[in-house]
Amino acid sequence: MDLNVTRRRALGTAALAGVGVAVAACSGEQGTTAAPAETTAAAPPAETSAPAAGGGGDALAATADVPVGGGVITEQAVITQPEAGTYKAFSPVCTHQGCKVKSVDDGKIVCPCHNSQFSIADGSVQGGPAKAPLPEVPIKVEGDSILLG
Ligand code: FES
Repeated sequence: MDLNVTRRRALGTAALAGVGVAVAACSGEQGTTAAPAETTAAAPPAETSAPAAGGGGDALAATADVPVGGGVITEQAVITQPEAGTYKAFSPVCTHQGCKVKSVDDGKIVCPCHNSQFSIADGSVQGGPAKAPLPEVPIKVEGDSILLG
């Protein structure tokens, strides 16, 4: 029997045992290491607002809704058709004391507060206490729609 071989084998066994201890120590450390907590943050809210309708202006009315010789009143304007195919629009706010006009009768836009009357053709005063015409609102007709111009 060779003593050197026996010594080498003994040292090798000791070395392997040391490695085993080291591995065990490492695995022990890993076992005690707490895993990072999972974050459960909620996803950001999705965009829900649709883009505003863009382009050539807001539709005020359909041409078919505006009678010849009359008109319709919206929040934004009084839209009239004094002659077939001719459309006009005016502010719906009376120039007397600021009431909103209420009706279009007999070719006139009528304010209910003190009965001022304005022409559907040019907004000029036709009766009542108002002294100034209704300001014209620029519009354009595209197909069957009347749009702010
Ligand atoms: S506010 Fe319109 S008539 Fe007076």
